[in-house]
Amino acid sequence: MMNYSEPPPGGAGQAVQAQALTVVRGTREVLRGLDFTVPRGQITGLLGPSGCGKSTLMRAIVGTQAKVTGTLDVLGHPAGHATLRTRIGYVTQAPSVYDDLTVRQNLAYFAAILDPGRAAAERRHENVTRAIADVDLTTRADALAGNLSGGQRSRVSLAVALLGTPELLVLDEPTVGLDPVLRRDLWALFHTIAATRGATLLISSHVMDEAERCHRLLLMRDGELLADDTPDALRTRTATETVEAAFLHLVDEAKKSTTKKEQTQ
Ligand SMILES: Nc1ncnc2c1ncn2[C@@H]1O[C@H](COP(=O)(O)OP(=O)(O)OP(=O)(O)O)[C@@H](O)[C@H]1O
Ligand SMILES: [Mg+2]
Repeated sequence: MMNYSEPPPGGAGQAVQAQALTVVRGTREVLRGLDFTVPRGQITGLLGPSGCGKSTLMRAIVGTQAKVTGTLDVLGHPAGHATLRTRIGYVTQAPSVYDDLTVRQNLAYFAAILDPGRAAAERRHENVTRAIADVDLTTRADALAGNLSGGQRSRVSLAVALLGTPELLVLDEPTVGLDPVLRRDLWALFHTIAATRGATLLISSHVMDEAERCHRLLLMRDGELLADDTPDALRTRTATETVEAAFLHLVDEAKKSTTKKEQTQ
């Protein structure tokens, strides 16, 4: 089996650096003082149960989240900086693919938003063709998106995010609802993108076995980070066999320390 803990060479430095990152939604603090880094050129998994704040954190990184405080640097700029627009590819949890357009038409539409003007037509055409090839949909390029399988639709969304040749890809639960074979294929594609383009990928999931496929992990629970480590180091530190068991171990430890704090207050 491939050892995913071994990061690819190169890609030094940090793609994302956060210090005391806090986000308020409504009246609640949904992210509470997070400190973490996302190294360049690697796949970092953002794992945690539903409602723990994964999408909120991703929105903060891509600059679409309000009420963010603390420090959040992305590719050397404060999150949301104008120059980051074309350097980040973002696929939301409910990606927008138009069913009544073909794969190529969908891509052409988003390419025109990203890189408008008649002069850019040839470059757009090349970018669209390349992005379709990257996600292995060349033979389905002229099929209507509405006639694709779930896995193929996910790959169209991914192709949209790949259009601008982004240095950082932020993918919010890209494998949700896919069968094990499609999930495996998509993870292989993520590794190809990281290895061949030197891109940084931040991928969220609440399926713990996907954690084993990442170079690094951010484990979240209830707006806080339980761990920022490699899968190997996590398993060793918690004396467990799987990342899922390590996560449960850390949840229990966090509960114990909260109870202790409450008792001493
Ligand atoms: N518009 C909002 N106003 C107030 N609270 C919100 C709003 N949107 C989300 N929240 C809360 O923020 C918290 C984090 O939500 P978020 O969507 O980031 O979680 P998530 O980890 O992505 O969950 P899932 O795995 O279900 O996608 C949740 O408790 C949610 O109820
Ligand atoms: Mg979410």
